[in-house]
Amino acid sequence: MADSHEQRAPPCAMVIFGAGGDLTRRLVVPALYNLAGARRLPDEFRLVGVDLAAGTVEDWRSGLTRMMDSFVGSDGAFNADHIDRATWQWLTDRMSYLQGNLEDPQTYRRLGEHLASLDKTAGTAGNHLFYLAIADRFFSTTIAGLASAGLTREGDGCWRRVVVEKPFGHDLASAKALNAGILKVLGERQVYRIDHFLGKETVQNIMALRFANGVFEPLWNRQHIDHVQITAAETVGVEHRGRFYERTGALRDMVPNHVFQLLAMTAMEPPISFDADAVRAKKAEVIEAIRPFGPGQAMRDAVRGQYGAGTVLGRAVRAYRQEPDVAPDSNIETYIAWKLQIDNWRWAGVPFYLRTGKSMQRRSTEIAIRFHQAPYTLFRDTDVERMNPNWMILRIQPDEGIALQFAAKQPGPSVQLSTVSMDFAYKTYFRMAPNTGYETLLYDCLIGDATLFRRADNIEAGWRAVQPILDAWANTRPGDFPNYAAGSNGPAAADELLGRDGRAWRPLE
Ligand code: BG6
Repeated sequence: MADSHEQRAPPCAMVIFGAGGDLTRRLVVPALYNLAGARRLPDEFRLVGVDLAAGTVEDWRSGLTRMMDSFVGSDGAFNADHIDRATWQWLTDRMSYLQGNLEDPQTYRRLGEHLASLDKTAGTAGNHLFYLAIADRFFSTTIAGLASAGLTREGDGCWRRVVVEKPFGHDLASAKALNAGILKVLGERQVYRIDHFLGKETVQNIMALRFANGVFEPLWNRQHIDHVQITAAETVGVEHRGRFYERTGALRDMVPNHVFQLLAMTAMEPPISFDADAVRAKKAEVIEAIRPFGPGQAMRDAVRGQYGAGTVLGRAVRAYRQEPDVAPDSNIETYIAWKLQIDNWRWAGVPFYLRTGKSMQRRSTEIAIRFHQAPYTLFRDTDVERMNPNWMILRIQPDEGIALQFAAKQPGPSVQLSTVSMDFAYKTYFRMAPNTGYETLLYDCLIGDATLFRRADNIEAGWRAVQPILDAWANTRPGDFPNYAAGSNGPAAADELLGRDGRAWRPLE
């Protein structure tokens, strides 16, 4: 987030636990390649892969090279049109590999020896970044292992940082326990809890839109805004992640983390500076201001859905219950819609409607702000029957951009209004290099800027806010699952949620 993006990161060794995993191969390594290409990594950068799988650094390198080559022309997160051989070579020359079991203290001892030798021979200066690209059940063990081997101890001007992926806990109690365990051995400053939504340029741009322009902020409140809709609709189903999803569901997977980041960016008060703690304090305040509610209201204001068979983007899709590793009578939700209120002066009385789901009609992540309707008086004696409200749409993905919809007079002798749109598309103004979204986040870890990472209080506030829904759902069966067809806009009950308030979701098509 910092303007220090002009510089290379300081000398350091980065250790990836889970070196053979999907996250490393698809996102973290391509992001490092992009950072290397942009000359953000120092010559004294080293990358150490740690994994249970036996193998040599050569095996690791060649597996990664095959993976990078397979991205060329693909439609994955990283879709470069070619791999720059010199850049890739620069990065692979700096790799080493350590086979090790995360539950074995010897792994951390051997890692410590390896890092000490890199500090001496490669000039990594004692600066070490540990990236936990591993299953969440190993987070605590790994952090404890690092600490017992003395690898998290800072001193002599060097830093030690740990990046923790999601899922960060399973509910409020487990998130608290995880935070407590981590903070026993690390300072909050050393912990980087990642939420990849914050790596998306368009999410970061919400702050620029609001706080770098004089025109919007005066309208950004209950006097002018009728309601806000936040959508994270995906066309993909659970793919090969049935086992994970059966333990997780759409609410845990998306809401207290990604969707709340969008909510916090949209609803936060202006921070007094862009300092990490100032920004994170304002974001935490918004989540803490979500109006508490009980089980009855959770059942009324939150809707769960599960997809049945259908057609998504012209392809036949099987029902969630037929996906691999999913129970044939599973009651796990693949969709959630939720109406919430934020109890503060800016937002009192303005509902925020959130929805996220898999196997939906269209992929669309957006924040839609509906302004109050204008008074009718001016057009009373004209042909204008109905005035459409103004919407401002922040499109996070795809087609990143911002649109403002307003009424314009149609040419002609009588007064007829049409809704028109002022549209800003990122791609027409900026060259968008192939980007995984992890580049900024990784670079920020290396330069020690935690603005885009989640603090312990932020994580716990998120879980606290969703806990009543988790509890209410755990104690009741959904009854009518599956309740939306793959390729549709979600369950009918989600439409009723807004219908009750005389409102409707923005169409996904
Ligand atoms: C992940 C979730 O954190 O985010 C996935 O576990 C989801 O289920 C993904 O598909 C969405 O991220 P993106 O960047 O593809 O919108």
